[in-house]
Amino acid sequence: MKAFATLALRFQGEHVELLDQTRIPAEECWLCIETVEQMFEAIRSLRVRGAPLIGVAAAIFLARYFESGASVMDLKIAAERLRSARPTAVNLMYCIDHLIACIKKDPSGESFVAAAEQLLDEDIQLCETIGRVGAEKIADGDGILHHCNTGGLATAGRGTALGVIQTAFEQGKGIHVYVDETRPLLQGGRLTAWELKKLGIPYTIICDNMAAGLMREGKIQKAIVGADRIAMNGDFANKTGTYSVAVSCQYHGIPFYTAAPVTTLDFNCESGGDIPIEQRKPEEVRGAAGSFGEVIWSPEDALVYNPAFDVTPADLVSGWILDKGFFNQIMVREGQLKNLKQE
Ligand code: MRU
Repeated sequence: MKAFATLALRFQGEHVELLDQTRIPAEECWLCIETVEQMFEAIRSLRVRGAPLIGVAAAIFLARYFESGASVMDLKIAAERLRSARPTAVNLMYCIDHLIACIKKDPSGESFVAAAEQLLDEDIQLCETIGRVGAEKIADGDGILHHCNTGGLATAGRGTALGVIQTAFEQGKGIHVYVDETRPLLQGGRLTAWELKKLGIPYTIICDNMAAGLMREGKIQKAIVGADRIAMNGDFANKTGTYSVAVSCQYHGIPFYTAAPVTTLDFNCESGGDIPIEQRKPEEVRGAAGSFGEVIWSPEDALVYNPAFDVTPADLVSGWILDKGFFNQIMVREGQLKNLKQE
């Protein structure tokens, strides 16, 4: 496999390496991933995360596993294991199913590594296009609300929603990003803030429950988020709290966009009700854990509900920013997302 380095995934000739995102921003620590179980654990515990990146990272790992001598049968078992690491982001299933289909066509496995490299390169290109399509929606002077993390830490390229923001900034638009901290795992306060600081884009972190107040104060002109799975009617799953952002935007008359690559569309999923939602452990909500250690502030037996994602219905979405172009409500209601299926 060729050597490459993205912001959070790299291969320099020996092992697949991941930037451990549970430790950002305190430490930039790269992990060598040598076994299927290490890769599974890294996805499940969000050391590598973000819908597009978990798919690409799993594919790159499988390609390296094959190069290191795994048989086609070993590969199939590993693929099944990784496929089950997290249930909501369809990109993981897309990348793995794509590779399994390659093995079926070419049982020698020879085209396998090239197929994984292609998934990596494609993701970089998809992000570039999403950035260009979405930046057209951003105006000079906009305050933009962003939820979770959707940048180079969540994809192989410049990101989806954050890629749009970066592109608009590079076009010279004077923007300010309001970063939802994104409880419980703080992808906004830790990861998006880290990326925006590196990019030199002005930002302010807010607690998630402050967003509606800022809208009322007139500080936010657009909201833009990513997606983990988009159903054919335009409903989509994204990081928990996205639905609240969409409802608040509707109330305040603020455009609310989701940005995603074609690999996030689920052509077998009619509506949001069909999307499986990952439930995570109660400790994440009873307190917080990270590079700063672990803090528990609730009674240790407090009941907790901790869905990692929620579903935003299509009628709250002002537009879907995809690599295939911008889709508005009318286009999505006409069923045009179905036409994007690639053979
Ligand atoms: O649980 P995470 O951190 O993997 O959730 C990530 C998100 O919800 C992102 O918004 C989504 O994956 C899009 S990333 C381009």
